[in-house]
Amino acid sequence: MKFFIDSADIEAIKALSDIGLVDGVTTNPSIIAKSGRDFKDVVAEICTLTDGHVSAEVVATEAPDMVREGRTLHAIADNVCVKLPLTLEGLKACRILSAEGTPTNVTLCFSANQALLAAKAGATYISPFIGRLDDIGLNGLELIRDIRLVYDNYGYETEILAASIRSVNHVRDCALIGADVITAPPAVIRSMAEHPLTDKGLKAFMKDWEKTGQSI
Ligand code: G3P
Repeated sequence: MKFFIDSADIEAIKALSDIGLVDGVTTNPSIIAKSGRDFKDVVAEICTLTDGHVSAEVVATEAPDMVREGRTLHAIADNVCVKLPLTLEGLKACRILSAEGTPTNVTLCFSANQALLAAKAGATYISPFIGRLDDIGLNGLELIRDIRLVYDNYGYETEILAASIRSVNHVRDCALIGADVITAPPAVIRSMAEHPLTDKGLKAFMKDWEKTGQSI
């Protein structure tokens, strides 16, 4: 399973990269606004931190403008993946950019039918939003399960990039279902290493080691 970091926080991405936990990065207009930085500058800097795909989202709503913006974003670096909304115009732009060999990520997916359309448009990734479905009382993980089944039924190569991940349980469940990629905030990825029994066990080992009076 690939781990993408859902953030534009350079220090946080670097720290996880040092542990070998960054296979790519995803951003969206809200994440860019939160960074307070110039969009193209921050994307360019993130692209130097990973060889994996860095998703940068278009903001146009008509296909020709989306394609133009997508080409501009992809020109920043070879590993820029153009993120497009799951609208008919977004799908049209996805088909054009994918045919040019540009990696694409179709975002704001909330149904298996939408995911099917993205695969038919040649998307590199589909981004179903788990947390936002949970927020309105639906089951985000059920959507990941459905898309996995639909894609496997027809052998689509579009990768399932589980997004809007809010907890370590989301990550575990996505891994059990077989999502290809998860994108999560740095804090969620870091929390995956935590377990109270690990802390307790380590404390006991350190205490017993001290008693031996030895060093390594
Ligand atoms: O990047 C898309 C997605 O991961 C957003 O997550 O928490 O804003 O629903 P969230």
